[in-house]
Formats: sequence, C-alpha cells, structure tokens
Amino acid sequence: MDDEAPVRLVDVRKRFGDLVVLDGVSFDIPRGATTAIIGPSGTGKSVLLKHIVGLIQPDAGQVVVFGTDMAHAGERSVYAVRKRLGMLFQDGALFDSLSAGENIEFPLRQHHPELSAAERRDRVDEVLQMVELPGLYDRPTPALSGGQRKRVGLARAIVTRPELVLFDEPNSGLDPMTSDAIDALIGHLKETLGVTFVVITHDIVGTINVADHIAMLYQGKLVAWGTRDEVTRADHPIVRRFLGRNLVLPEPGSDDPARLPKIG
Ligand SMILES: Nc1ncnc2c1ncn2[C@@H]1O[C@H](COP(=O)(O)OP(=O)(O)OP(=O)(O)O)[C@@H](O)[C@H]1O
Ligand SMILES: [Mg+2]
Repeated sequence: MDDEAPVRLVDVRKRFGDLVVLDGVSFDIPRGATTAIIGPSGTGKSVLLKHIVGLIQPDAGQVVVFGTDMAHAGERSVYAVRKRLGMLFQDGALFDSLSAGENIEFPLRQHHPELSAAERRDRVDEVLQMVELPGLYDRPTPALSGGQRKRVGLARAIVTRPELVLFDEPNSGLDPMTSDAIDALIGHLKETLGVTFVVITHDIVGTINVADHIAMLYQGKLVAWGTRDEVTRADHPIVRRFLGRNLVLPEPGSDDPARLPKIG
C-alpha cells in the first residue's frame, strides 16, 4: 500500500448548466482516518462523493483515488479502484427486486468471484450482525423500514471489506440509539481495519464524535478544512453558524468543557 492520501481532490470544478456546484475544491483525504464533509443542503456534498467513485466527471481539475485519475482512467482502472471502495448513497440505491441480503451480496458477486456461495452468505450474515439486522437476509427490500433500508445500504458498503468507505448521510432517518451504533461501527472499523472513511452528515453531534478531519463546503467552495478541533474552533462566521450554538467542546489542554461563542 502506498502512503499517499487515498483521495486527492485538485481544483475540482463542476457545473450543471448555469449552476456552478463545485468551484475549485482542493484537499487530500487522509488515510485511516474519518473525514466529515459538512455544509448546507444543495452545496455539492453528494456531487463531490460521486466524483470520488467516478460516477460524475469534473469539468476541470483532478479526482485522484488510490493514485488513479478517475476522469481519465480506462474502464479497467476505474473498476480496480471501485473494488477497493464501498459507498452508501444518500437515497440508499437498493434494488427493490432483490431481497435485503441479495442487495448486500451484490458487490461480492461483482468484485469477488473467488468466493463460494457459502462464503458470500457468511460475509452477508456478518455485516447484517454489524448493522444490527440479524436474520434479515430474506426480507423483501420494499418491506424494509426507512432505517432498515439505510442499514442495509451501510452493510452493502462494507461487505467487500473496502479500504475506503464513502457514506452519504449514514445517520439520517435513524433513531438516536441506532445512530450511535452506526457511529460506533465506523469507529470500530477505522481502529481495527484502518479503513478510511468519508462521511457526509448533517448530524453535528455525530460529526464531532466520529470525525478526525472536517471539510466544510459552502456555495461550491471549501471554506474550512482541518482537524476536528481546528474546524470546530474556527472563527469563520459561516462555520460558526453552521456548527450551531450549543456545541460543547473541551478547551485544549483542559478537561473543562467550554461553550463556544454564539453567533447569528
Ligand atoms: N445530475 C445533476 N444534474 C443537474 N443538477 C444536479 C445534478 N446533481 C446535482 N445537481 C445539483 O447540484 C447541487 C448540489 O447537489 P448535491 O446533491 O451535491 O447537494 P448536497 O450538498 O448533497 O445537498 P443535501 O445536503 O441536500 O443532500 C444541487 O443544486 C443539485 O440540484
Ligand atoms: Mg446530499
């Protein structure tokens, strides 16, 4: 494995018609850590993630994943990159014609033909446990609740044991207990397997709990980027407004929680 950042974004620009969505975004996503991407609705977070998996090409700039320039690589190279990553789409993107378990199994069939049917089934059962849905293999996808769909999507994103996992809103629509369990799962996979996570989230408390690094997008630009502590303490008015008024963080070098200044 190389030491380079698994994902390098270099001056990424994207517009849809007259709408400029990404207006020169550059940063590197550090290996083995969790990077949270935050920002208001419609600011290009999901579009950015789709660039990383190669579903959207930039108009200009580079999206380099595991050393492969996704916009200019051939089909085989893009496939090789996709084999090493897992993605949870914001809307789940499950196939309604497949059962919950078959949805989770799908990327194993696609990327791991060496596995036997029994091995695939073991892997699926293992991740169903991880997302706290044991025994749900045969459940028809249209019969899943919103939170169950989300968790099946999560299970599908990690079933291939990817090195890089992209989660678009993993906690939305989940109750607080399940949401905490998902945050714990992210922490566990990161610690035990060294997985690199990129997580888009509106859940500020969850962000603070899981993120090592935070990138904030606003109107197509990266307005804040750094470690969790750097960004949560930043004076930037947009960052302050977005992170909200009730954030309690420990002061550096002390155990006392300190309330951040209010703005807005
Ligand atoms: N394929 C597309 N064609 C045209 N416009 C698009 C396309 N995909 C996204 N957009 C537009 O790009 C903008 C950014 O969308 P995106 O989904 O990245 O927002 P987001 O930051 O993920 O928002 P949210 O927090 O609501 O999920 C939106 O205005 C959206 O309508
Ligand atoms: Mg989105």
